[in-house]
Amino acid sequence: MATKNPIIKDAPNSVVRSIGVIGTGRALPQKVFKNDEFVNLGLDTSDEWIVERTGIKQRYIAKEECASDLAIAAANKAILNAKIDKSEIDCIVVATTSPDYPLFPSVGCLVQSGLGLTDIPAFDLSAACTGFIYAMEVATSMMRNGTYRKVLVIGVDTLSKYCDWKDRSVVILFGDGAGAVVLGGVEDGYGLLASQLGAKGKDWEKLVVPIGGAKEPLTAENISSPDRYIKMDGKAVYKFAVNIIVDVIEKALEKANLKKEDISFFIPHQANKRIIEYAREKLGLSTEQVYVNIDTYGNTSAASIAIAMDEAAEKGLLKNGDIIVTVGFGAGLTYGTNILKWYSSKK
Ligand code: UT7
Repeated sequence: MATKNPIIKDAPNSVVRSIGVIGTGRALPQKVFKNDEFVNLGLDTSDEWIVERTGIKQRYIAKEECASDLAIAAANKAILNAKIDKSEIDCIVVATTSPDYPLFPSVGCLVQSGLGLTDIPAFDLSAACTGFIYAMEVATSMMRNGTYRKVLVIGVDTLSKYCDWKDRSVVILFGDGAGAVVLGGVEDGYGLLASQLGAKGKDWEKLVVPIGGAKEPLTAENISSPDRYIKMDGKAVYKFAVNIIVDVIEKALEKANLKKEDISFFIPHQANKRIIEYAREKLGLSTEQVYVNIDTYGNTSAASIAIAMDEAAEKGLLKNGDIIVTVGFGAGLTYGTNILKWYSSKK
């Protein structure tokens, strides 16, 4: 059994005021897919175009794996990293829009089963690429009155399965993966300080899988239609992202009584390196203060921020007391930010 994490306050039913990340993990599929392989498949694209317009050099593609396989692997690592026993987990929240099964069961329930846990609540949350940001706020809210004390929050997506592999404007962007965190009680004043969530539902058509749901079910006639895959107005989503990112972060900073100058480290959703660069400049941050791994993973949707957080933590880039800002945006159109004061037991 793992040693107990000393930072967690376990008095039954006591209110936990400060809730933070006490462990992180990630998991990627086996298959690495480099830009040139799209050219080999006959797509009219090039490594140069993809690198220049997006920053992506490769991504991982789930062939055998499903969302739950990746989520379970990431969760196991996060639990190990948190130095807790998995039996201490009392709720599972999974952010995903590409579950193993079309309606049910949820990936959350598959994760519960895969971890060998039972009876604790487990559910999925659908907010596309902003899913992890939403899930952090939902989980923290569930924990604040003391009902739940250690919640597993997972961001996972396998959007390569929902891409039209003949559509160069979309397929080159997405990669598959999972990131997980364990949330628990931390020292007062640390952990999640503020969140700001939002959505512009009127723009839902900008990023949509048009058929295959209840509105227009798959039939023998439309089964080969490209509309069963992700359709994106890339330019509109790009514009939406650059317009919203700084605004939403400023609102959350204000809630937390902080200024842009207080930001220690920025973990943005990895959708396009040009969007990240725009946000970095507007926030007045140096390149060392921003985590970028889009070159390796592409856009892993709900997993992207959680994967980046795990990598940054592993590399020692997140120090005790650092103000960490994460931001996400995506289909819905959804957006959101979490501001954390990082707690490290290895102070
Ligand atoms: O998680 C949130 C989800 N999505 C996003 O955040 C995506 C946001 N948008 C973007 O990242 C960018 O808009 C894209 C990377 C999707 C596209 O970049 P862009 O600079 O906006 O390119 P564009 O759509 O304006 O296309 C420029 C040209 C077009 O050709 P013409 O019309 O100028 O002849 C496209 O047909 O590039 C062409 N093009 C490509 N060429 C080579 C589009 N995709 C490709 C490709 N390879 N893969």
